Amino acid sequence: MVAAASKCRTCRGPAIIDLPRHNANFCAEHFIEMCRRQVVKAIAQFAMLGPDDRVLVAVSGGKDSLAVWDMLIDLGYQADGLYVGLGIGDYSETSGGYARRFAIERGLRLLEVDLRDDYGFDVPTAAAASRRAPCSSCGLTKRHLFDKAAVDGGYTVLVTGHNLDDEAAVLFGNTLRWDVEYLARQLPVLEARHGFPKKVKPLVRLTERETAAWCIVRGIDYLVDECPMASGNRHLSYKEVLNTIEASSPGSKASFYLNFVDNMAPLLVGKSLSDGLQLSGCSNCGAPTTGSVCSFCHLVETASSHVPVPVELLAKKGRGSR
Ligand code: AMP
Ligand code: FES
Ligand code: ZN
Ligand code: ZN
Repeated sequence: MVAAASKCRTCRGPAIIDLPRHNANFCAEHFIEMCRRQVVKAIAQFAMLGPDDRVLVAVSGGKDSLAVWDMLIDLGYQADGLYVGLGIGDYSETSGGYARRFAIERGLRLLEVDLRDDYGFDVPTAAAASRRAPCSSCGLTKRHLFDKAAVDGGYTVLVTGHNLDDEAAVLFGNTLRWDVEYLARQLPVLEARHGFPKKVKPLVRLTERETAAWCIVRGIDYLVDECPMASGNRHLSYKEVLNTIEASSPGSKASFYLNFVDNMAPLLVGKSLSDGLQLSGCSNCGAPTTGSVCSFCHLVETASSHVPVPVELLAKKGRGSR
């Protein structure tokens, strides 16, 4: 990770990580301090959380969501976790184990929803039944279940582990298409509205290399494997492109995303068509929707009557959308 003789920028002790975008190396202690500073800064700049908020962190068992849960607890927030079992074969079995162990070891509360047990289907079956790309049915399902768990549980804020690489890759895709509708909504905070909970992304100032290093330094065991259905996801290729640019011009990724949020996003306020949409309660589940039945209830109806599809059948076909 770092040349043997490198010294920490803060204490001049031996460094464990080099961060070219900060033009600095850090020892474990000061690396942790730098990450905490970035998260505190994001929370303050975008008014993400207050001391009285009841926080629900969506945790997948991967590095980002476990790191953000750890950081929020460390910063003194009251934060419970939410794990959604998506039924993606061994991948889901294993990821649930990481989330549960993290919660048990720290005495934290983890809520769980299981798609197969609670709704009678899983993501591979939903993808086949709806003829959507797996990541698309998966994203729709996660958004619905995160919102529902937050609202039903009386939580005031829902946190996800999206990091700088995730947000920059999505921004890159939206910019390639000049998709104003998505660009106007690509913010690190979405305020509560129309029955949706407030949603925040406290890791937008940290890269995935940094969240992985946070977990290693803090002794957090996380699932390293990527979702088997994500291969071919176009955001993975956008991440590669951005990493190539970052390697020759450190800091580009952060400028691309953070300057968008500071300089461009304010110009797009009010440009999202969804701001003016009239929403009413889904006639089946009550969730806010533009139609009479929400997309998730449509998916439940289509997928729960479909014969279960094993993940292996779809794993190689996974194409992304978000
Ligand atoms: P992804 O959509 O896989 O890029 O994940 C983005 C964020 O969604 C993660 O950082 C988590 O906060 C959350 N998340 C993803 N998968 C799950 C899951 N199975 N259960 C709960 N939260 C999840
Ligand atoms: Fe949703 Fe892979 S985690 S399709
Ligand atoms: Zn140091
Ligand atoms: Zn519904």
